[in-house]
Amino acid sequence: MQTSHKIIIGNSQNMKEIGEGTVHLMVTSPPYPMIAMWDDLFCKADSQIVELWQKLDKKKSDSGLAGQIYTQMHNYLAKVWQETYRVLVDGGIACINIGDATRSIGGKFQLFPNHCRITEECEKVGFTTLPYILWKKPTTKPQYKGKGAFLGSGFLPPNAYVTLDCEYILIFRKRNLRRFEPHDEARYGSAFSKVQRDEWFSQIWQIKGTRQTTSELERRTAAYPEEIAERLIKMFSIKGDTVLDPFLGSGTTMKTALANGR
Ligand SMILES: C[S@@+](CC[C@H](N)C(=O)[O-])C[C@H]1O[C@@H](n2cnc3c(N)ncnc32)[C@H](O)[C@@H]1O
Repeated sequence: MQTSHKIIIGNSQNMKEIGEGTVHLMVTSPPYPMIAMWDDLFCKADSQIVELWQKLDKKKSDSGLAGQIYTQMHNYLAKVWQETYRVLVDGGIACINIGDATRSIGGKFQLFPNHCRITEECEKVGFTTLPYILWKKPTTKPQYKGKGAFLGSGFLPPNAYVTLDCEYILIFRKRNLRRFEPHDEARYGSAFSKVQRDEWFSQIWQIKGTRQTTSELERRTAAYPEEIAERLIKMFSIKGDTVLDPFLGSGTTMKTALANGR
């Protein structure tokens, strides 16, 4: 099947190249707020974030500044969710892979529940929230800063922390269900099997993460596994549909769309 693909080098907060209501599915993974590897990106994008970090460094205690930084980072992403809403067709689906973050700031350890903020922001722009998927990455041991250890105080209650070993795949829809003619050929030609349906539409997916230990460049792309993109594309689009990834990175979504006739 002949398909066409376009990479736009630009800022997805303003996707002026993409017309309103022209995309059937968005599959993406943004930079994760409050995860250290993305600090520079958020600082480059927003001078207020730089100023807030500087204030925090001077104060040496949180005093609400971490919360403000976290909010600013989500404001940055929210502009992309707004643009996504604009470019999606009615009934179009948005799938967002995101992990929460844990961080010690000013001596205080806490969780930054990115999945909650993104859900709130997507609802604000008009999306309907649908049941989400928990992507559980198989690990032999809970990890903290690359070391196999629980966070906290070993075997003594009550001050240890639960390890973050799941990420979220949040799913949203723009307005009402997509409508098709009875026996639409492309739709029927995109059907999944019963085995696929039972596995894909259950809430916990056990899929190995993509190895990111080779070069600095590869580490910085933070690629997700093709299996994730492939499942989402087959679940929420039909052959010939247009799929968008506003945070393309190494291009996993595009490669998978191409392989699946989208
Ligand atoms: C988590 S990575 C995506 C990885 C991707 N799923 C893959 O498999 O390679 C997020 C990407 O979004 C890019 N990015 C951040 N802000 C952006 C923006 N405003 N417009 C376009 N891309 C952006 C980052 O440079 C990074 O490549």
